[in-house]
Amino acid sequence: MKFGKLAFACPFSNASLTARFAFYSFGCIGIMTLALWFVVSKYLTAQILEREWEITAQVLRADVKQLLVDYDFQATDRKSVGHKFEELLRHVTLMPDITRFKVYNSKGTIIWSDDKRLVGQSFADNDELLEALAGKVVADATPLKKAENLFDQTPMGSAIEIYVPVYSESKELLGVIEVYKRPDILYRDIRRARTMVLFAVLGGGVLLYLSLFAIVRQAARKIKEQQDNLLTMQSELVASQRMAAVGEMAAAVAHGIGNPLSSIRAAAQVAMLDAKAESDPEHTQKTSANLQRIMEQVDRVQKRMQGLLNFARPMEPHPAPVELNLLIQEVVETLRPRFADAGVQAKLELASNMPRLILDANHTEQVLMGLVTNALEATPKNGTVTIRTKTQPGNGAGPLVTISVEDTGEGIPLENRQKVFEPFFTTKSYGTGIGLPLAKKFVERNGGKIAIADTPSGGAKIDVSFPWQQLN
Ligand SMILES: Nc1ncnc2c1ncn2[C@@H]1O[C@H](COP(=O)(O)OP(=O)(O)OP(=O)(O)O)[C@@H](O)[C@H]1O
Ligand SMILES: [Mg+2]
Repeated sequence: MKFGKLAFACPFSNASLTARFAFYSFGCIGIMTLALWFVVSKYLTAQILEREWEITAQVLRADVKQLLVDYDFQATDRKSVGHKFEELLRHVTLMPDITRFKVYNSKGTIIWSDDKRLVGQSFADNDELLEALAGKVVADATPLKKAENLFDQTPMGSAIEIYVPVYSESKELLGVIEVYKRPDILYRDIRRARTMVLFAVLGGGVLLYLSLFAIVRQAARKIKEQQDNLLTMQSELVASQRMAAVGEMAAAVAHGIGNPLSSIRAAAQVAMLDAKAESDPEHTQKTSANLQRIMEQVDRVQKRMQGLLNFARPMEPHPAPVELNLLIQEVVETLRPRFADAGVQAKLELASNMPRLILDANHTEQVLMGLVTNALEATPKNGTVTIRTKTQPGNGAGPLVTISVEDTGEGIPLENRQKVFEPFFTTKSYGTGIGLPLAKKFVERNGGKIAIADTPSGGAKIDVSFPWQQLN
């Protein structure tokens, strides 16, 4: 046998949190409210009835004690004691709503009734009577237990039977008195109590529902707001990261091209001057040397461009043994025309015992180029840029190699010493502000440190130090 596929689709699967909460909590609170009303009203009804039976029993027993003696229940000659029971009936019917009663002896036989046809009869199938004979005050209020009758008008003439066991002084069961009580007032009281409970519980339920709904709606709004904020922040972050990457890239490209181009320009200028005196063969040779230089610099630009484009990829260093002193000399040689142009002297104080370091040569060259260019740009005519290398034992850690680039310019003001390492910070009209941040990045990627040191002359001094291990 084949069964069709059952699909239970939640009606609010796509709805908002608030709508789902409104639906489910309405159901839950509704069920809870009805259950509470049912339990509380049931308890209340039981309490009212029990109190009612107890009061009736107390009044009845007091009347019996006052009007009857033990013998009246046992007398075989009923006529002789009949008037006493008449008197008891008169007394008892003074109680509100009690209409009539029957009296049973201790064996369950009717010994007195306002309906004389019943006297002498016994009803074995009367469970309430049996319970009363066992000593309990019992009420037969079966219709009361039916909820659907509660709000109906109780039919006039219907009655509740209350069975009250009565005892002698010596606590011996004398018999049971059954009274018929008109239930209208009692039922009305119960109805009122249950209605009050219903309103109280409904009010509580509605209040609970509304306050929970308000809380959840507020929370849902907050969550939505936070989600929106998060999304905005995320997209802003992505945009700013993209912008930073693009900016960094553009600045790096500009920086990489800028320095070699300046050299090209200076060399071309010299070539132009030399070309003016072309008749001299010596000058012709000089011109070709300068033009050769221009080509070299153009090659350099291309190489640098390639290197900078690689910058877009993670700048993972490719370490290899590097002759630091040699690299410094090459950089200074490259910048020689610019030094000459600016009328600045380049002074090298290179340690003779310099070990070969394991560094990325391209990164190191760019660091040196950036630092020496900065020093050159900061130094006035006839000033000096000094590049030193030295080895240091290192404080506790391994030995260090330090490169210092010092100039006789104005120095870096204290307030700018943090900022100069931030991308795009520049005080130069033609600057891009990428030289030092890039140098810092490259130095750190190669395990080194860069710092601005103080000089007695007032110029700037940048120290770069790399740890070194002795190569075997
Ligand atoms: N030797 C120095 N003497 C004085 N100020 C310096 C020196 N080196 C760097 N600075 C300051 O630090 C700033 C940032 O230097 P950085 O090399 O990062 O950028 P830049 O030289 O301005 O531009 P570029 O991107 O072309 O290098 C400079 O604008 C300058 O104010
Ligand atoms: Mg610079």
